Amino acid sequence: MASISLRNVVKRYGHGPKANQVIHGVNAEIKDGEFVVIVGPSGCGKSTLLRMVAGLEEISGGEIAIGERVVNNIEPAERDIAMVFQNYALYPHMTVFENMAYGLKIKKVPEAEIKARVDKAAKILELGGLLDRTPRQLSGGQRQRVAMGRAIVRKPQVFLFDEPLSNLDAKLRAHTRLEIQKLHRELGVTSLFVTHDQVEAMTLAQRMIVMNGGHMEQIGTPEEVYARPASTFVAGFIGSPPMNLLKGQAQGLTFKVGGITLDLPEAAPRDGELILGLRPEHLDHWQHEQGWPFEVEMIEMLGAERLIYGRLGSELFTLRIDGTQTPPAPGSTLKLALSDKHLHWFDPQTTRRVEEKASPQ
Ligand SMILES: Nc1ncnc2c1ncn2[C@@H]1O[C@H](COP(=O)(O)OP(=O)(O)OP(=O)(O)O)[C@@H](O)[C@H]1O
Ligand SMILES: [Mg+2]
Repeated sequence: MASISLRNVVKRYGHGPKANQVIHGVNAEIKDGEFVVIVGPSGCGKSTLLRMVAGLEEISGGEIAIGERVVNNIEPAERDIAMVFQNYALYPHMTVFENMAYGLKIKKVPEAEIKARVDKAAKILELGGLLDRTPRQLSGGQRQRVAMGRAIVRKPQVFLFDEPLSNLDAKLRAHTRLEIQKLHRELGVTSLFVTHDQVEAMTLAQRMIVMNGGHMEQIGTPEEVYARPASTFVAGFIGSPPMNLLKGQAQGLTFKVGGITLDLPEAAPRDGELILGLRPEHLDHWQHEQGWPFEVEMIEMLGAERLIYGRLGSELFTLRIDGTQTPPAPGSTLKLALSDKHLHWFDPQTTRRVEEKASPQ
C-alpha cells in the first residue's frame, strides 16, 4: 500500500499557443489506505487526473508520487496500480476465472499462486459459483465484479476507479457501492474513485475532492464539504436539491434580496453585497407569525420527504419538509424561520466562502 501525492499537477493537451490547459495545479495528499473520491461535472478533468496517476497521460507540470517514489516518468506497468474503468471490457471468449487470471499469467505468476489469488478474490466478490461462465452468461453487476476481481488479484498498491458503476441500474449501483465499501474495509488499499454523481461521492468517500473546470474547489470529508462548502460551486453541486443561493445586500441584521428585506438571526460577516446560502432542509415554516414570506408554487412528493418550490420575493427558493407533514397549498404564503447555525455566506466576486465572525465569548 502507499500514499499518493499530487503536487501542483498541471495538464495541457497540445503545445504552444494552441495548448488547452485542462488541469490547473492540483494539490492533494492521499494517505496510505485512504478512500478518496474525485467528484465534479462532466469535462472538469476527473478522468485526466486519474489517468495521470495511472501513467496513461503525460504530466505537463508538477509532480505525482506514489509512496516515496515520484512517478512522472515511470511506465504504467511499473507503478503497481490497478484500474477499473466504466467500460470494463472483459475478454468474451474467456471464462470468469481466465479473465481474472489473465494479467497474472502474463506476469508469469506460478499456477498455484494464480489459483489461490483468484479463488480468494472470487470469495470476496461472491463470484465463486460463476468461475466457469463466460461474460455473456453474466448479469451487468456480475461482470462489474469480475472487472474488480481482475484488479484485486494483482494486489496493487493503489486502486484507481473511473466511474465503474455508471453502467449499472440504480438498485445495482447502490448494492455495488456497499460492496466496494466492504472491499475497501477488507483490503485497505489506497483508492482513488472518480464519479460525477454526488450521492456516490458522499456515500463512498472518506474524503472527497470536488473539481470544477480543472480546479480543485475543495477537499474534505463528506461531512465537512456538506456542512461548510468552500464556494458557491460546491454549495450548488453537493446536496440534492442544491443549496439555495441568494445574492443580495447585507446590512446589520438585515438582508435585501429579490425586492424584500429579510431579518437575519445573526449579522452577516460584513455589510454589502453577499451571497447567502441556505439548505432546503434548514428552514421550517410551522407556527411562525413572523418570518420570511415564501410563496408556494409547486410541490413534489418523494416519499420520505416533500420538496416545496416557490419564491422568496422574486427569487426562486426550495424547501424540503418531512413527507409525513401536511403539505402547504400552492398559492399560499408561508413564514419561514431559520436557525443561525445554518447560514452560509459567499463573496459574489470570488464565489468563495466568507467566514462567519467569531462568536462573542
Ligand atoms: N486527448 C485530449 N485532447 C484534448 N483535450 C482533451 C483530451 N482528453 C480530454 N480533453 C479535455 O480535457 C477536459 C477534461 O476531460 P476529462 O475526460 O478529464 O473530463 P471528466 O471530468 O472525466 O469528464 P466525464 O465526467 O465526462 O468523464 C475536457 O474539457 C476534455 O474535452
Ligand atoms: Mg471521465
